[in-house]
Amino acid sequence: MSASEAAVTITPRENGPYLVEGPARVVGPDGQELEHKAVFALCRCGASSNKPFCDGTHARIGFQAPGAKPARPAGQ
Ligand code: FES
Repeated sequence: MSASEAAVTITPRENGPYLVEGPARVVGPDGQELEHKAVFALCRCGASSNKPFCDGTHARIGFQAPGAKPARPAGQ
């Protein structure tokens, strides 16, 4: 796999955001690309003041993520 074909990895954090690692693009509803760091977190709790990004609010509100394990792991 070349650098340009690098995979994006999205990891749900326990009771927290989706951690995104890799060459991802994030665009808003208007199609404009949103700036982000090389590794960034997407809000999963719905309470961030900086959606779609996580701003840490999940910890303050005690967010509990449903389903700790995926319904169907890859390759199964
Ligand atoms: S997951 Fe962090 S603010 Fe929503």
